Amino acid sequence: MKMHAAVVTSFDEAPHYLPFEVPEVGEGQVLLDVLAVGLHPRVRTGATGQHYTSSGTLPMIPGVDGVGRRPDGTAVYFVTDDDVIGTMAEKAVVDARRMIALPAGADVAKVAAAMNPAMSSWVALRRRVPIQPGQSVLILGATGNAGTMAAQVAKRLGAGRVVAAGRNTERLVAVPADAHVALGDGPDALAAAAAEVDIVLDYLWGKPAEAAIVALLTARSDRSRQLDWIQIGSMAGPTIELPSVALRSANFRLQGNGQGAVSPRAYLAELPALIDEIDAGSIAVTPRTVPLADVERVWNEPDVPGERLVLTPAGTGSISESAL
Ligand SMILES: NC(=O)c1ccc[n+]([C@@H]2O[C@H](COP(=O)([O-])OP(=O)(O)OC[C@H]3O[C@@H](n4cnc5c(N)ncnc54)[C@H](OP(=O)(O)O)[C@@H]3O)[C@@H](O)[C@H]2O)c1
Repeated sequence: MKMHAAVVTSFDEAPHYLPFEVPEVGEGQVLLDVLAVGLHPRVRTGATGQHYTSSGTLPMIPGVDGVGRRPDGTAVYFVTDDDVIGTMAEKAVVDARRMIALPAGADVAKVAAAMNPAMSSWVALRRRVPIQPGQSVLILGATGNAGTMAAQVAKRLGAGRVVAAGRNTERLVAVPADAHVALGDGPDALAAAAAEVDIVLDYLWGKPAEAAIVALLTARSDRSRQLDWIQIGSMAGPTIELPSVALRSANFRLQGNGQGAVSPRAYLAELPALIDEIDAGSIAVTPRTVPLADVERVWNEPDVPGERLVLTPAGTGSISESAL
């Protein structure tokens, strides 16, 4: 049996909309009709073979999560850990433990758009550094979807002051934070606004993080007070230079959040509460839905700020061999 899917045949090219064999359903797995899949930065990286979980196998179907319909009609949010057969297809074979039923009437495109970017801060503040009521948070790289949602998530989880730092000043002022710092104003401006924060959610890494770590620690009034830095994204570069003194002269704790840093079981345990928040609209990004058949055309379109591309398989029925 075949289905249509977004198929990567070369790591240098956008995926093509092609027929693909429906995977075998193994023990404990469910065959879902896929309804909506977010085109997240993580998905684009995976399709270039560059993600740290990539095995380099081709052809591959991109997509790490989505909303689907089980054979009994229940709509579910699901995640996959297969880097070769992803979710951008009419059908997905998914471990029954990796799906969460959606509340009745949930907007499937909204859920598909929001879960991945929202999860980055939700899991960081629940599982990596459980946030205490009133703690202050700096979001480094707040102008993207995940960064903007991190401000909403931090407040929902009890943060006190939230400082948003980002490059695009127009987008920055729209982030629901208590203070805003343009990265273009330099590390001293950032330190003036955020030297006393308890937690940093870092979506940038690279030069902005390098400068910010030193500036914040230098300006901190009590260096022995813990500063938790959670590395989440690397929009500004994959590496930094970190002076060893940063780790000796202050109570600076650096860790990351992502697949591998948190167990699948812990991720899954966080999903129902996050789905409820998204369904209620307290954490949101606007989905821009496009038929899966147009995947090649839209693949390299830059995201409009505040929007996330969501691909929707046109028909959820599989296609027979004879139809191809
Ligand atoms: N670990 C996890 O669990 C997890 C989960 C989701 C996402 N992430 C990661 O988080 C990052 C952001 O994801 P997203 O969904 O928010 O992507 P997005 O919506 O595309 O936003 C990315 C933003 O990064 C900003 N940016 C890019 N280069 C920059 C630079 N040099 N300096 C400052 N800002 C820069 C851009 O802002 P402007 O152009 O507006 O300045 C852009 O809006 C990605 O690296 C993604 O892989 C990690």
